[in-house]
Amino acid sequence: MIILGIETSCDETAVALLSCTPRVEILAEEISSQVSLHQAYGGVVPELASREHLKNLNLILDTVVRRASLKLDQISKIAVTVGPGLKGCLLIGAEFAKGLALSLGKPVSGANHIEGHLLAPMLDNPELSPPYLALIVSGGHTEIVLVHRIGRYEILSRTIDDAAGEAFDKSAALLGFPYPGGPKLAALADTVLTSRFALPKISREISDFSFSGLKTAVSLLVKKHKAELDNSPELRAELSFTVQSSIVESLIHKLEKAVKQTGLNKVAISGGVAANRFLRAKVREMDGVKPYFPTEVHSTDNAAMIAYASIRREQAKAGVLPLTIHPRWPVEDL
Ligand code: KG4
Ligand code: ZN
Repeated sequence: MIILGIETSCDETAVALLSCTPRVEILAEEISSQVSLHQAYGGVVPELASREHLKNLNLILDTVVRRASLKLDQISKIAVTVGPGLKGCLLIGAEFAKGLALSLGKPVSGANHIEGHLLAPMLDNPELSPPYLALIVSGGHTEIVLVHRIGRYEILSRTIDDAAGEAFDKSAALLGFPYPGGPKLAALADTVLTSRFALPKISREISDFSFSGLKTAVSLLVKKHKAELDNSPELRAELSFTVQSSIVESLIHKLEKAVKQTGLNKVAISGGVAANRFLRAKVREMDGVKPYFPTEVHSTDNAAMIAYASIRREQAKAGVLPLTIHPRWPVEDL
């Protein structure tokens, strides 16, 4: 069986072809990032993102099919992200998938983007199986989820304001890094081992995440030390270190609580912030925890995870997801 995955929920257009024999193998995949398009606006512009998906989808599909040395009619079924995400972007992907399915006479189903992120660690670590804990940390999501089994997910913590990636990006913008500044801030932070700055501890007591206070605290520190920061790269690196430590500490603290609460020791990390080296190191240091990371390509938005989630749902008889668009679609509703 050959499954085509399509992902257009935000600012990445992605297409992947997976085979399932039932061993799952990636035949070809392609991701086109729109970062440079949105950079000038300091964030994703939904209308521009939709148009870019429309422009790119056919080209990317063509590339992937050629790279897999396949013909379109060899595809057995199609899975496309229908939520959560930007409405216009989801519509472009879903309509494209519907049209293709109709022309090929093949079935098409919807996919939940978060379920894709939740299951992506298994795609790259086939020895991993539920139940496990998953930390999803991206520009739009920050959640600790208990993956009971394929199709049954329980959210243990979620953010009540900014996502972890957003906290990285907003702090980075205050420090003068161009959008998306998270990876640039992280790279500078990794050049120092300590910092003379301190930030208030982030919401240790409540079970949910909250990162909006961090932005205010960073903004006050930047204002207070403006002149020194402009003239001292070391100081900027130290403040970056403090921001990174503060965000990562909050993630680890809640993850430790979740491990204790559930008694599970398998922890999977995914989403763009999973690429953060400091976070990876801290997760590896957690007592008695076995960490699982997807590859960097499968940490960020990609279509392989969408095709994979659809394969795993079918194998587990977890039900076919319809093509209805859900800009908001909590994964526990599946
Ligand atoms: O999952 P993703 O590619 O897109 C979505 O948001 O869906 O995540 C992007 C986010 C951005 O906020 C970016 O700044 C952050 O992940 N990010 C990082 C790193 N690499 C990406 N944040 C901190 N350290 C990194 N190394
Ligand atoms: Zn995502």
